[in-house]
Amino acid sequence: MNPSSLSARDKQILWHPFTQHGLEQYPVEITSAKGAYLFQSDGSKLLDCTSSWWVNIHGHGHPALAEALKRQALQLDHVLFGGVTHEPAVRLAERLVEVTGLAGHRVFYSDNGSTAVEVALKAALKHQRNRGLPRNTIAALRGGYHGDTFGAMAAGGSIGYFDKADLNAVPVVHLPVPHRAADAPLDEESLTLLGQCQSMLDEPHIAALIVEPLIQGAAGMRTHSIAFMRALLEYARQRGVLLIVDEVMTGFGRTGNMFALQHLGVVPDMLCLSKALTGGILPLGATLISGEVFDSFKGPDFSTALAHGHSFTGNPISCAVALESLHLFEREQTLQRVLRLEQFYRERLLPMATQIADLPPPRLLGGIFAFEVPGMDSRYGNAGARGLISWFLKRGLLLRPIGNTLYLMPPFCVGDAELALLEGALHEFVNELR
Ligand SMILES: Cc1ncc(COP(=O)(O)O)c(C=O)c1O
Repeated sequence: MNPSSLSARDKQILWHPFTQHGLEQYPVEITSAKGAYLFQSDGSKLLDCTSSWWVNIHGHGHPALAEALKRQALQLDHVLFGGVTHEPAVRLAERLVEVTGLAGHRVFYSDNGSTAVEVALKAALKHQRNRGLPRNTIAALRGGYHGDTFGAMAAGGSIGYFDKADLNAVPVVHLPVPHRAADAPLDEESLTLLGQCQSMLDEPHIAALIVEPLIQGAAGMRTHSIAFMRALLEYARQRGVLLIVDEVMTGFGRTGNMFALQHLGVVPDMLCLSKALTGGILPLGATLISGEVFDSFKGPDFSTALAHGHSFTGNPISCAVALESLHLFEREQTLQRVLRLEQFYRERLLPMATQIADLPPPRLLGGIFAFEVPGMDSRYGNAGARGLISWFLKRGLLLRPIGNTLYLMPPFCVGDAELALLEGALHEFVNELR
């Protein structure tokens, strides 16, 4: 390796996310991106099979998003959001309430998915304190993941990524949940687990239930049945437990509907959004919070207010780009593209993956396709997963398995050439494994 190369310099000075630097090879150098492709310094291109960690939806280098960014940067780049407002923040909040169907909800901006969750957890616990209720514990689902700040880590504490010592910021109980296809009926085991969840939600100290609706991303794209999730959320609601729906990964078309909530028909007290909110090109988080919860924070002094804010809360450029991304959904019929991708997975990839996949069965939901590679270690970042990354890199695909789960989640702009590339690579992979 040339010591003055970018990746050699990187190796001397950088610390990468979710990376064991004792094992990791040189990072892939990317110099530019367009559509569904990332370009390397030698001009070769890689298909962005994870949508750059589940964020990109319209494709890289989209002129409309770049224009919106430039326009807003020249008009108003940034201003504090305490006691100040601006058009992009207000307009985006109006649009978010409209597209989610959550009329009456307030929008609290932050910087990323973890902070969107952190705001929800903090607001839920304080809402209960403001009402004088002893509800101080969050209920979360086993296998759920909600980000890497301390509250979010506690909620995702059963996933196995984090040190136990880091999980005590917020009291959390983890509910046992079944993984099933989205359209599966409530079977006997699901009913038994539902009963166990219900008893745990009956505890008077439960403040809120946080869920990834329909699909647990970091757990390895594991789906829940709509029937189970509906029954669980409806029960929590009846018991006075606040519902926090974390759509950081699923929001903005990823599951085939604009929001996974629309599969469920449930109105949450709080909804966490980020990742694809800006089309996936700038950081922004938003937590939509019901009017009822908001009202409990009003009072004669600061003691009942939400003590939370970030330097870049409501950044005008991020908000303007998010608004443009919502326009693109209409102009480019983005949801149609997701349905096309889902159909491609069903018709072309599923039959191949089914021939080799280990249990659980392959999953397919909107723009997401996942299956377990047989004979592989299921722990995060294992040697097999690193081998898979190299194997696919040689074939022009950048992906990042989760343990033994190989998943595809490209930007929705993929066309026939990209689908053929995916199909060809999977075909070769399956043949090698058979
Ligand atoms: C469901 C869910 N919530 C929260 C997060 C955290 O988002 P971020 O990485 O932007 O902090 C993620 C990230 O993958 C996620 O999938």
